Amino acid sequence: MTTSRLAGLRDRTVEERRQLVAENAGVELAYLDVLEPVSGLRVEQADHLIENVIGVMGLPVGVATNFTVNGRDVLVPMATEEASVVAAASNAARIARVRGGFTTSSTAPLMQAQVQVLDVVDPEAARARLLEAADEILRLANDQDPVLTGLGGGARELLVRLVRSPVQTYVVAHLVVDVRDAMGANAVNTMAEAVAARVGEVAGGRPLLRILTNKADLRVTRARAVFDAKSLGGAEVVDNLVHAAALAEADPYRAATHNKGIMNGVTAVVLATGNDTRAVEAGAHSHAVGPDGRYTSLSHYEKDADGNLVGVLELPMPVGLVGGATKAHPVARAVLAILGVTTAQQLADVVVATGLAQNLAAMRALATEGIQRGHMSLHARNIAVTAGASGDEVDKVVARLISDRAIRSEHAERVLAELRGAR
Ligand code: MEV
Repeated sequence: MTTSRLAGLRDRTVEERRQLVAENAGVELAYLDVLEPVSGLRVEQADHLIENVIGVMGLPVGVATNFTVNGRDVLVPMATEEASVVAAASNAARIARVRGGFTTSSTAPLMQAQVQVLDVVDPEAARARLLEAADEILRLANDQDPVLTGLGGGARELLVRLVRSPVQTYVVAHLVVDVRDAMGANAVNTMAEAVAARVGEVAGGRPLLRILTNKADLRVTRARAVFDAKSLGGAEVVDNLVHAAALAEADPYRAATHNKGIMNGVTAVVLATGNDTRAVEAGAHSHAVGPDGRYTSLSHYEKDADGNLVGVLELPMPVGLVGGATKAHPVARAVLAILGVTTAQQLADVVVATGLAQNLAAMRALATEGIQRGHMSLHARNIAVTAGASGDEVDKVVARLISDRAIRSEHAERVLAELRGAR
């Protein structure tokens, strides 16, 4: 990667952008041909991904610029249908860049699977017996996946929880598995199914559910950035951003929207890389509930001693580089090449950094001019293009739609006809 600071990228043509991204990400331009819809995911390939395939659906893939993550410049491909998202992430990354960009820290890639055991007469005693049998159960789990253990991963620990429900108290065994560069669902589900009978025997009950938990709270990534006060718009903006973040921490109604903004960034990168967006979203939702059982903001902001804004975002990040659509989807492969990540951890770092950037950008817009102005000019662009404007017509039609305060397709068609008539 040369630089992620590609100023003016939005004013280039799609071909020029692709070329700049290829050059700066250090990938062959031809490798990005798959981003052309006709050469992307073929129906025959899609047919192997899911059932009853009747076609494929296109989504725009944009590239967020200006990101520095752990000292490395990175161009961040994002798949989303929502206008403003890519521009907003790039803007926030530009502000973060002034003070070194994003830094991250993480736990090991530990996923967990649950085995539910029913009808246990003495759950406390069963818990003790299971913990005594932990080595045997972990060995049985590891026998399922010599590839993973060969790579230094594998089942690490057995935890046992007693879960009281109105129906009965269940013994729930958790297999904690280091899944290395995989998302890990297949690995941990296979292990859970393999050990369930033995877990039931030792516990003295009937095993029922055997499945990973998406509350991946042992596999978290934290991103932090210092957002420069001057670049944010000054001390008053910083103070207002602290208030914006405080409302999200205190009020679930605001927290849900604040967190949605975070997921605008997170999901777009996760989707572009062919990872499981629902797994990441389920993990994030469960992480937004604090130990006191209250739903709150996923991020936290404070003013530092120099008056800059420090933001932190922590999320479970079950993403992988092996298996699933990450390998089978040609666009996902091209996206991973642009990102230049070689481990699932590096991908997690970029995803969480993007979530933080997205969050800061949304808060900043809301705490200053509001989001509608930016949104409306991008919306006007969409309307202009849909009405048939191309090349330099687009900017002209957009300017008229905004100045006439009529961002509607019939007006765009009228303005376009006028423009063409005047030529
Ligand atoms: C819109 O997709 C996301 C925002 O509502 C997020 C937020 O309110 O923080 C702008």
